Amino acid sequence: MRILRHPILGELTGLKTVTIYYGDQPISAVEGEPIAAALLNAGIRVFRKTAKRHEPRGIFCAIGRCTDCMMIVDGVPNTRTCVTSVRDGMRVRLQDGRQ
Ligand code: FES
Repeated sequence: MRILRHPILGELTGLKTVTIYYGDQPISAVEGEPIAAALLNAGIRVFRKTAKRHEPRGIFCAIGRCTDCMMIVDGVPNTRTCVTSVRDGMRVRLQDGRQ
């Protein structure tokens, strides 16, 4: 799902990869990209569940405004993953309701 060859910008080279964990699942990510981008590239679409109905939510605005992408990141709840960059060894968990 990641664009590695852009028709105008050309080949993306020199990308450094890091590993983050979705639960216990290791996921390869590009250093500096948002957590949400790494999860989407890995096929993960559900980032949190709503407080009342436990309905799945994923990335929506992608600019840090809607809070649909909130997850528990390194033990910190309510982290907006669309505007938070990956770090090697980072642990990300689905957030169920308000924390
Ligand atoms: S997708 Fe809207 S705040 Fe992240």
